[in-house]
Amino acid sequence: MVYLTRVEHFNAAHKLYNPKWTREKNEDVFGKCANENWHGHNYELYVTVKGKVDPDTGFLMDVKKLSEIINNHVLELVDHKNLNMDVPFLEGQLCSTENLAKGIWDQIQPHIPTGVRLHCIKLYETPRIFVEYFGD
Ligand code: NI
Repeated sequence: MVYLTRVEHFNAAHKLYNPKWTREKNEDVFGKCANENWHGHNYELYVTVKGKVDPDTGFLMDVKKLSEIINNHVLELVDHKNLNMDVPFLEGQLCSTENLAKGIWDQIQPHIPTGVRLHCIKLYETPRIFVEYFGD
């Protein structure tokens, strides 16, 4: 089994706010991310696929194709956007890095070619905080 990772980058605004709670509780739980007037993050996205090497190409999959999938189904939807307001696949969810990673998985997974499997979405919200999602 070979693992292949493509790294992408996007910027987006969000806030973490649970409407069931008071403002004080939101600030307690989410800290600066609860700021009512939004804030941004520079997200680093690592998309890893796995499978066998094709003897005809020496590739697991065409990495340009992987990049295209990420661009069309994720970056076009989230880059320079407000995650709470602009992104259909996050509608009705808290815009945490966890939910964003899961949403990105669901956006990419159906487009991965036969014989290759999506292995991991790793998403850095800051250089020191990241989430990994393996699809279960
Ligand atoms: Ni935040």
